[in-house]
Amino acid sequence: MGTTTQAYGEPSYWDNRYSQESGPFDWYQKYPSLAPLLRLYIPRHHRILVVGCGNSAFSEGMVDDGYGDVVSIDISSVVIEAMQKKYCNRSQLKYIKMDVRDMSTFHTGSFDAVIDKGTLDSLLCGNNSRENAITMLEEVGRVLKDKGVYILITYGSSNFSSTFVERFMLVDNKTPCDRETCVRRMLWTFDLGVDESRSTG
Ligand SMILES: C[S@@+](CC[C@H](N)C(=O)[O-])C[C@H]1O[C@@H](n2cnc3c(N)ncnc32)[C@H](O)[C@@H]1O
Repeated sequence: MGTTTQAYGEPSYWDNRYSQESGPFDWYQKYPSLAPLLRLYIPRHHRILVVGCGNSAFSEGMVDDGYGDVVSIDISSVVIEAMQKKYCNRSQLKYIKMDVRDMSTFHTGSFDAVIDKGTLDSLLCGNNSRENAITMLEEVGRVLKDKGVYILITYGSSNFSSTFVERFMLVDNKTPCDRETCVRRMLWTFDLGVDESRSTG
């Protein structure tokens, strides 16, 4: 597609891209290959937030698999309008235009699970990447219930992952959280094979 990875951090890049391609397109993995992992950690009755959904068929896959309340957000109004139109008859699927760095529309502790496939990766490609990633992770932590799970499907290096773990286990960016919360938020990592033909735009 002849673009620098830095463009992935810019909302205008995504609006442009979604104006040109109707999709669906799934980054890294499609729902069926991740379903066994999701079923293990997320019961079907749980409330789920998919951040940076794009025009992926992932949320639809979850609902087809029996999940009953899947909210998907994206910063691109182009893709959200298209997805709202496409799924207007599926009451279990909601699409909202929202910046993952500011989800103030959602109350604290409103979701049992947050799923991120490629969105933190996008933010890390752009300007102010560190600041944006931290703001995003704080918001993800805020909207999650106490025992909520954050499932991150990332192309990131193990180096980044350890920075992430460290950050996510801090309460206010300074104080390590209490042992119980740290254990609850323990990060499990799984190495998934990437379908290289679909890993980049
Ligand atoms: C690499 S794509 C992944 C799309 C989809 N999750 C998938 O797996 O196919 C990254 C998505 O994140 C969205 N995005 C980028 N920055 C965002 C932000 N600040 N808030 C919400 N969504 C954002 C983009 O519009 C894009 O749809």
